[in-house]
Amino acid sequence: MEKTLLIIKPDAVNRCLAGRIINRIEEKGLKIVGMKMEHLEPKKLQEHYAHHKDKKFFADLVKYMSSIPSVLIIAEGKDAVNVVRQMTGPTNGREALPGTIRGDFSMSFQSNLVHASESKEIAEKEIKRFFKDSEIHGYEKINFNWIYCEEEKQ
Ligand code: CMP
Repeated sequence: MEKTLLIIKPDAVNRCLAGRIINRIEEKGLKIVGMKMEHLEPKKLQEHYAHHKDKKFFADLVKYMSSIPSVLIIAEGKDAVNVVRQMTGPTNGREALPGTIRGDFSMSFQSNLVHASESKEIAEKEIKRFFKDSEIHGYEKINFNWIYCEEEKQ
């Protein structure tokens, strides 16, 4: 099954929204196979956001993301990358539709509560960046057979 990385960002932690976001991931039927709180270092964030390094908001982004701890999650499921991107909504919280995490709780294009990997390839890199192999857990969930049909379990 596909894995994706979510970062519950400092604004969500500060606004006590981490639990609600984790709840949405679980209720959707995604399986949490990695989760930890980490105060992200500017150096790691500069690497994570390297594709934005020439943008004028880069320094602010690194400052905001390194301000207080984040909660990092690996979610697993069929088409997990796309599913989580849909749940998250577009970057700008003001443009995100109700029902999405950003649409329901964010008014900002920077303080947009969550990061979600953009593609399967990027997810693999991001998971390696933030998690050791020993922090990723394989385990059986009793609801698996009720979440997917036979064809979807492959
Ligand atoms: P994320 O999905 O983590 O990817 C890059 C992040 O940069 C984005 O969420 C926002 O937090 C931030 N971001 C994107 N656009 C802007 C912007 N115009 N100004 C400030 N921050 C931005």
